[in-house]
Amino acid sequence: MIPQDFIQQLLDRTDIVEVVDRYVPLKKKGANYQACCPFHHEKTPSFTVSPVKQFYHCFGCGAHGTAISFLMEHVGMDFPEAVRELASRSGLEVPEDGQGRRPEDGRRDEWLAIMDAAARYYQERLKASEKAVRYLKGRGLTGETAARFLLGYAPEDWQGLAAGVDNYQDTRLEEMGLVILGEGKRYDRFRDRVMFPIRNERGRVIAFGGRVLGAGEPKYLNSPETPLFHKGRELYGLHENRRGIQASGHALVVEGYMDVVMLAQHGVQNAVATLGTAVTPDHVAKVFRLVDRVVFAFDGDAAGRKAAWRALENALPQLPDGKEAAFVFLPEGEDPDSYVRSQGPDALRTLCTQAKPLSDFLFDSLQAQTDMSSQEGRVRLVKLMEPLLAQMKAGPLLSRSLRARLAQVTGVGVTEGRRPSSPRTGRPPLRRDMLASPQRLLIQALLTKPERALDLQERPPVQGQDGAALEWLLEFIQGHPGVGARDLVEAARTCDFGHLIASAAANMIRWEANEQDEIDYQGAMASFREQWAQSELDRLNRIPLSQLSPEDRQRMVQVLRIKKLDQMNRIKGE
Ligand code: GTP
Ligand code: MN
Repeated sequence: MIPQDFIQQLLDRTDIVEVVDRYVPLKKKGANYQACCPFHHEKTPSFTVSPVKQFYHCFGCGAHGTAISFLMEHVGMDFPEAVRELASRSGLEVPEDGQGRRPEDGRRDEWLAIMDAAARYYQERLKASEKAVRYLKGRGLTGETAARFLLGYAPEDWQGLAAGVDNYQDTRLEEMGLVILGEGKRYDRFRDRVMFPIRNERGRVIAFGGRVLGAGEPKYLNSPETPLFHKGRELYGLHENRRGIQASGHALVVEGYMDVVMLAQHGVQNAVATLGTAVTPDHVAKVFRLVDRVVFAFDGDAAGRKAAWRALENALPQLPDGKEAAFVFLPEGEDPDSYVRSQGPDALRTLCTQAKPLSDFLFDSLQAQTDMSSQEGRVRLVKLMEPLLAQMKAGPLLSRSLRARLAQVTGVGVTEGRRPSSPRTGRPPLRRDMLASPQRLLIQALLTKPERALDLQERPPVQGQDGAALEWLLEFIQGHPGVGARDLVEAARTCDFGHLIASAAANMIRWEANEQDEIDYQGAMASFREQWAQSELDRLNRIPLSQLSPEDRQRMVQVLRIKKLDQMNRIKGE
């Protein structure tokens, strides 16, 4: 765990406007900054960054958060990475608390430096290798593209890398999978191969894929799993093509390194590749963080269909309502690389716009396996479909509409499953009257002036989501004196009420000069007092007078006083 006060200190030294502006150019608008939202498609800007409050909110899609969550959601860093990034920019050192900190964290920079040195070495060797250059040229690659993807060449030597690193005996070379230790001898893993550096979202090299020049086995050799590299999580090209993905509004997921590279050369700059593995749920989650539509491209053969089906299975639980997954099948014998070279980028783009939506792929595949002309076959379809639909936790609306379609094609009435508690179709912009419950007003009042929590005497009654969020907020503020709205939004990110709290915070962005604030606060407090007094009164009224304890009697006096005060105030107000 990174301590809360460090996060607070870090956010104090960070200007969210500067952080966001590096990725999404912002324009000043009144007290705030605005841009078209990077989290959804829009023509008029509703993405708002508040320099005063130090958080962002999109009034179109509801995306919200602090500088940390921006780096996570937009750039794709994980929490520790985002913290490290901000810390290094503001010259702070992330504290080690010896607990939640992974042991590798301290060594990470060293590992990255080694990978970086190796990548530079391979790049140099490519320039010097006539045969490697000839191979790449022969495949139609330009020097410019090679440079953009930092392509390299690992020479045939057994210890060629020794010339590229400070110390070839360094055991970290093994940890990074660059060197293999066999029978007491150390030698390079990658020899006589074209090298594709695999970079994380920040552009740091974390692994390599190496291809033989021409024929040979294995065709591709990848880095093993290392502390820096988990192939089920990484996507080749995500760093290089991030802008292209966001500009085109969709990511194209392909199978090969060469596909990504050649597509980019032909102007299709939104492709990413899995690294010789099936598409995993992590992959899907990662691209959906960047963009709302993902197109998976597969070969048209049986193996491609099988791989596509696995991608579908892994995408289903990750598919929130409002996001789309679709499938493209290339003509037999083609891959995206060969296709773009023979048919051109526009033909490929057309294929992508005509991609088969996940829902159609789902129905077509399963209907092909069942005899739709018999009742038994149709029931079988229901049986096959049910477990898949049940996984669609993130997309209750799509799941429901698929159930409806299933009922239609099978004639079998399908149980609705449990109704989703709050179906969300994009989030409607907030209106002030949506915040009218006293709990919500109090949440907002606490975000405006968190110190109010410190002198609250009566805990407001906990009722429903709002009440629980309020309870959480009070607890947090009392446990962390000195927090500001920004810290609360950040801390709430991982609790159940993150969205509720952020939407209250968003209202603060909207009503920048909030002269209404104190009135709302007093109003909310009065209303709580009254609620509390009423419920106490009800309780006390149920106890026979003779059995009232001395405390109860005192309480009764107190309650009656509150109720009377309230009445008096009301009379005064009228
Ligand atoms: P080129 O032949 O260079 O165009 O590559 P390709 O991408 O068309 O190759 P293919 O379709 O055979 O493989 C797709 C992806 O699967 C590659 O980019 C690799 O990530 C992975 N892959 C292919 N062959 C091997 C292999 O022999 N070993 C491993 N580990 N991965 C492989
Ligand atoms: Mn290929």
